[in-house]
Amino acid sequence: MRDKIREIEKSAVEEITLAVDADALEKARVKYLGRKGLVTELFKNMSGVSPADKAEIGKLINALKETVSKALDEKTPVLSGGSDSGAQKTDITLPGIIREIGRLHPISKTIEEICGVFISLGFKVVEGPEIENEHYNFEALNIPLEHPSRDAFDTFYLNDKWLLRSHTSPVQARFMETNKPPFAIIIPGKVYRPDATDASHSFMFHQIEGLVVSDNIRFSDLKGALTLFARQMFGENTRMRFRPSFFPFTEPSAEVDISCILCSGDAAQRAPHKCSLCGGKGWIEILGAGMVNPKVFRNVGYNPEKVTGFAFGMGVERIAILKYGITDIRMFFENDIRFLRQF
Ligand code: DAH
Repeated sequence: MRDKIREIEKSAVEEITLAVDADALEKARVKYLGRKGLVTELFKNMSGVSPADKAEIGKLINALKETVSKALDEKTPVLSGGSDSGAQKTDITLPGIIREIGRLHPISKTIEEICGVFISLGFKVVEGPEIENEHYNFEALNIPLEHPSRDAFDTFYLNDKWLLRSHTSPVQARFMETNKPPFAIIIPGKVYRPDATDASHSFMFHQIEGLVVSDNIRFSDLKGALTLFARQMFGENTRMRFRPSFFPFTEPSAEVDISCILCSGDAAQRAPHKCSLCGGKGWIEILGAGMVNPKVFRNVGYNPEKVTGFAFGMGVERIAILKYGITDIRMFFENDIRFLRQF
């Protein structure tokens, strides 16, 4: 009996060790521990063992059963991990892990779209610092210290010398000081104003500035470029209106409107219910523009007798609000994923 036990242990351990897949392992389990297995048979044969040997033989068979079980347990994870039959544990019909695809912020998207239109016209993208000094933010642009128009461009001062730029126009002066005409540039960036935050005001927002300088740039060039821009941005049927205005850095200056993108400026639609976007005016202001003031040219060392140019500046949030029908500027900056996901 003792020999038999030893023999069974040897062959069981050998078979389990050599099992190449889960099937072979299962066969070994049935052969030794199954209902009619060799180990089970040994227990059944206990009745024939003499009473003197019973206790010892019983222990030996129990130990054998444990050895075989342990060997099976240890081998099982090894085989189910790598072999084909183990693959039944991986259900390849289950849906995979879906990774969220990121997207551009609506402001970045709008900046790219606006710049894209001007790039197609031959403009080059230029950037400048958000931390500026009074010279570039004001003086170089013909906004003198005591002039009331300075209020419109009031900003945050970091100390006596440095401030956060209140518009992208300072980059005009910076670029002209280090470059010679002819050129056509577009300047996107953040600007800052000490405005109380509400649905249409934010202390930080984005602008895009344009500047074209050459020896014979005329107001008609400005109109042509901006008309093309408005049509690409808001649709082929968009009409433009230039209203006389004032900016210290341009002369003459204009405020530029487009025909209302909601009611198309249609008189029939204006009365009796006023359009919710244009308030019945039929026009929406989108930017400021003009011919570069000769004083600005002189400030950067250009000869105003030799060069002319046009400039314009627009608020990116305003364009995005119009284009996407957004009702509150704060939505751009709250990082609410439900809002951002829509773009
Ligand atoms: N800098 C002006 C502002 O922030 C916008 C502007 C108006 C820029 C006319 C220009 C311009 O270049 O010609 O309100």
